[in-house]
Amino acid sequence: VKVAIIGTGHIGATLAYTLLLRGSVAEIVLVNRSKEKAFGEVLDMTHAVASAARPTKIYFGDAAACRGAAVTIVTAGAAIRPGQSRIDVARDNALLFKALIPEIVAANADGIILVVTNPVDIATYFALRCSRLPSARVFGSGTELDSQRFRSFLSLHFDVNPGDVHAHVIGEHGDSMVPVWSGVSIGGVPLERLSGYDADAMADLFEITKSAATMVRATKDSTQFATALSVAKIVEAILTDRKQVLTVSTVMRNTGGDDSVCLSFPAVVGRNGIERVLPVPLADDERAQLAESARMLSQVIGSVDIDIEPVTSR
Ligand SMILES: NC(=O)c1ccc[n+]([C@@H]2O[C@H](COP(=O)([O-])OP(=O)(O)OC[C@H]3O[C@@H](n4cnc5c(N)ncnc54)[C@H](O)[C@@H]3O)[C@@H](O)[C@H]2O)c1
Repeated sequence: VKVAIIGTGHIGATLAYTLLLRGSVAEIVLVNRSKEKAFGEVLDMTHAVASAARPTKIYFGDAAACRGAAVTIVTAGAAIRPGQSRIDVARDNALLFKALIPEIVAANADGIILVVTNPVDIATYFALRCSRLPSARVFGSGTELDSQRFRSFLSLHFDVNPGDVHAHVIGEHGDSMVPVWSGVSIGGVPLERLSGYDADAMADLFEITKSAATMVRATKDSTQFATALSVAKIVEAILTDRKQVLTVSTVMRNTGGDDSVCLSFPAVVGRNGIERVLPVPLADDERAQLAESARMLSQVIGSVDIDIEPVTSR
């Protein structure tokens, strides 16, 4: 199985290395604006192949080399720089996608495009618009990273294996993300009935989930390891048809909201991409927060004034 990674900066290179270590794929192609950087990563990782989990072919190319990839992961784009507004970055990355996404689709109209570039919900929306592919096959990593962090912090608090924590963060991958407190459980026990439950501690725990990226970026350039592993999990769910429930960013269709934004919901992810979005029951305040998240994203999309065909029913 082959995957393509577009953008071999912190996230793209770490993702490639994560897939290599885990033996997830037979073939990885790296595509980067600076070919020298892609070449360097290929050399470095090729020197590790003999000790990797399985033989993996790693090489670099241009967008045409995405041909045959089951999944193309897009991490290309500038991160938000100090002093830049979310709209500025969204516009820069939407313009980048306007050129890049059609090149990927021209090379590989049958594959899945997984967007990681931030602001990921807006980038996903523009990727979908520029690709003209079905939304099942163009989606974003969304709040899967936030859900991963949320479960990690809950597992530390309750001193239990993170795999036994059932908890999701939905909505925007950003400040307006929504923790679905009403759905948190451990081993089938609802949150408020767990010993060690404390409302203030839970509020703090969500605050550290929300500020996790900021805390990391105060000390280093990128949240590369946690991000790469959460994206690898999505890639593996696709490649192995795992039908895993992951919080990925997709159009709001069938969720009662307007479909002019992409947001994260728990969705079943398998070989065909997003197989279905689960109708997650929400408390009234959670529903209101989600609507606010959508309203804010819709405003940003409206401000990114670039000329691309609107999303039409697929
Ligand atoms: N969704 C998430 O959970 C999440 C988490 C962390 C970072 N990110 C985002 O991922 C993106 C990458 O972050 P990073 O830390 O790796 O940044 P980075 O600056 O280290 O790497 C970006 C890479 O993209 C390349 N690039 C730019 N335009 C390109 C193009 N048209 N074609 C091919 N390559 C191109 C650059 O040369 C660079 O190597 C950013 O948008 C960042 O905000 C998302």
